[in-house]
Amino acid sequence: MDGNGRWAKARGLSRSEGHAAGADCVRECCRAAIKNGVKYLSLYTFSQENWNRPEKEVDTIMALMASNMIKTMPEFEENNIRFKVIGDMDRLSPELREQIAAAEEHTASFDRLTLILMFSYSGKWDILQAADKYAAARASGNAEVSFDSCLATAGIPDPDLLIRTGGEKRISNYMLWQCAYTEFYFTDKLWPDFREDDFVAALDDFKGRDRRFGKVN
Ligand code: IPE
Ligand code: MG
Repeated sequence: MDGNGRWAKARGLSRSEGHAAGADCVRECCRAAIKNGVKYLSLYTFSQENWNRPEKEVDTIMALMASNMIKTMPEFEENNIRFKVIGDMDRLSPELREQIAAAEEHTASFDRLTLILMFSYSGKWDILQAADKYAAARASGNAEVSFDSCLATAGIPDPDLLIRTGGEKRISNYMLWQCAYTEFYFTDKLWPDFREDDFVAALDDFKGRDRRFGKVN
């Protein structure tokens, strides 16, 4: 979800206001996902590299995370949305961690859409923590353990389509293992401007892709 800062700057607003507008966009994106039969929507919300941003901006993002979980809960209930957060939770405040755990527990049985916020996430971190788990499982005699089951995304299918807004064409340490055969879609639209029709345009583009997974058709 890239482009909140530039969106705000173009309007003479603060970066915080850009992040707030971006958070509002998440709800529309969930509705569009449900309408179009998407079962899993993961959003790169806050990377581990983002911890290096100015303290004020980080605080704003943490506060938005907390307030939007409360704000969006009725929508999760109404639309049967399971909510999950994936990332290094150890770096979050105990209060935010508890709030996330409660929201996850409350929505655990919902199954129309799984919304996953990748928060304090990094693909390299995920691979490293998975490697530790994998090695420990192997060392304790579990020869069948799969690497996928050790990743923070265990149980969630690999992404079919990755949409990056904001004009940059890079992966920025996102799901490096899981994106092995993901289709990429880049748009110049800044995240707060990314609307339902933009989401549908990305899905339509995806439908035209020829996915061979290294095989010959
Ligand atoms: C994305 O918007 C939100 C986060 C990374 C938290 P940016 O804050 O990266 O917006 P730009 O790239 O400065 O426009
Ligand atoms: Mg950016």
